[in-house]
Amino acid sequence: MKRRHFLRSCALGGAGMLILPRGTLWGARAPSNKLNIALIGTWGRGAAHFNAIAGESVAALCDINEEHLASAAAKFPGAKPYVDWRKCLDQKGLDAVVCCTADHTHAFIANWAMNRGMHVYCEKPLANSVEEARVVRATYLRNKDKLATQVGTQRHANENFNRVSELVRDGAIGELREVCAWGNRQIPRPGYLPAQGEPPQHIHYDLWIGPSPYHPYNPGYFSGGPGMNCLQWNMYWDFGSGQVGDMGSHTMDIAWDALDAGRPTSAEAKGDPVHPEVTPVKVEMNFEIPANAWRPAIRLSWFQGGAMPDNPAPFIDLKKIGHGAMFEGAKGVLVADFNNRILFPAGKGADLTYYRRRAPETLLPPVGGFQQEWLNACKGSLKTSCDFDYGGTMIEMMLLGLVAYRAGRKIAYDGAAGRVTDHPPANELLRRTYRPGWTLNG
Ligand SMILES: NC(=O)c1ccc[n+]([C@@H]2O[C@H](COP(=O)([O-])OP(=O)(O)OC[C@H]3O[C@@H](n4cnc5c(N)ncnc54)[C@H](O)[C@@H]3O)[C@@H](O)[C@H]2O)c1
Repeated sequence: MKRRHFLRSCALGGAGMLILPRGTLWGARAPSNKLNIALIGTWGRGAAHFNAIAGESVAALCDINEEHLASAAAKFPGAKPYVDWRKCLDQKGLDAVVCCTADHTHAFIANWAMNRGMHVYCEKPLANSVEEARVVRATYLRNKDKLATQVGTQRHANENFNRVSELVRDGAIGELREVCAWGNRQIPRPGYLPAQGEPPQHIHYDLWIGPSPYHPYNPGYFSGGPGMNCLQWNMYWDFGSGQVGDMGSHTMDIAWDALDAGRPTSAEAKGDPVHPEVTPVKVEMNFEIPANAWRPAIRLSWFQGGAMPDNPAPFIDLKKIGHGAMFEGAKGVLVADFNNRILFPAGKGADLTYYRRRAPETLLPPVGGFQQEWLNACKGSLKTSCDFDYGGTMIEMMLLGLVAYRAGRKIAYDGAAGRVTDHPPANELLRRTYRPGWTLNG
């Protein structure tokens, strides 16, 4: 039996004879029952995962910055260090990968790891192009009966997500009409940073650039604080998708969780003038989402950087909510942020008689610890709340919005084929061009 499958059968209780008293070689926390994890990207957001993975066997560490690698090695002295994630993923015996690198390598690392039979926790955003989102999701779907995946949108575990979802699905605002999410973070950048000096010896800059087109070194790309350095590079097309992939991944999740949505059939967007090097600060995107079993087709929108939906009533000022979502129904409005929600019955007959509150025992169960949910899934059910099917489809939609923005027009989208059907040049914008030698699906 392969080690990975052995771990799973232990956790599922399928191998009952293996459950021995505490303290024995085979106990629940015995070394043999721990996942062999590789942490790729070990500083900043990577360090935020130290506690969650410390109970497992951290067998490999990878960072293009050798100083960051050394500080993680002090915490996990037994792990083998790497500067190139491709070599790291070749280490024998790895069960799972936590990926906290820059956005433009997420889809690569996720794909390569799944192709080698490893479970993956990947920081948001899962991808940096529509094509990447589709390839990662497809790889996951081919392996979903043996791999556990989670996109790092940890706010999803806030109980508010469940309460919002219940209110929408249980009809508290009547039939759903329109949904939007927004974020107010604004990080204007004039263009790629100019060349400035040579990379210091401890930074493997060419590996940081990885699959993206080359841009000269500038220390500015590395000048942010821990967990915030992503804001130094994520506004540039070759390294990120700006607020679409950044707070958009978290905030659209409030809406996406409640909608049971699939891919959109169209996208349109408007905002700042298109810049060849920098993603937009201000942008509004609208998507048409097909009907499903419990709701009609809806319009779903994303607003960022100062673009905002209209207030649902003069006495509600959405600008006071930095990152939020709004659900508009035939009989009212629900406004939410990550932790709070307000229900506003409105319109004809909005007397709430049509709405039956859930009994406590039928409330959606809490997710619990978000990283722990994934670790448990690796060893057991394989079920997570933000797997690469759920998260992959959501980021595919968001990145399609950027395609419509760059195309400068409304585009019709065939989600099954992954093609823009009414404007062929937009299909070129669905994918990124990689440097020779880099393969997305390796
Ligand atoms: N879930 C959240 O709330 C949250 C919060 C902050 C950041 N993030 C995400 O986490 C990721 C990292 O963000 P950050 O601010 O820590 O960025 P960062 O630039 O500090 O990078 C994190 C670490 O990864 C290393 N790294 C970068 N590219 C690498 C590569 N190709 N191979 C190996 N190591 C590499 C860096 O040297 C650094 O040590 C981003 O994708 C960001 O969107 C998520």
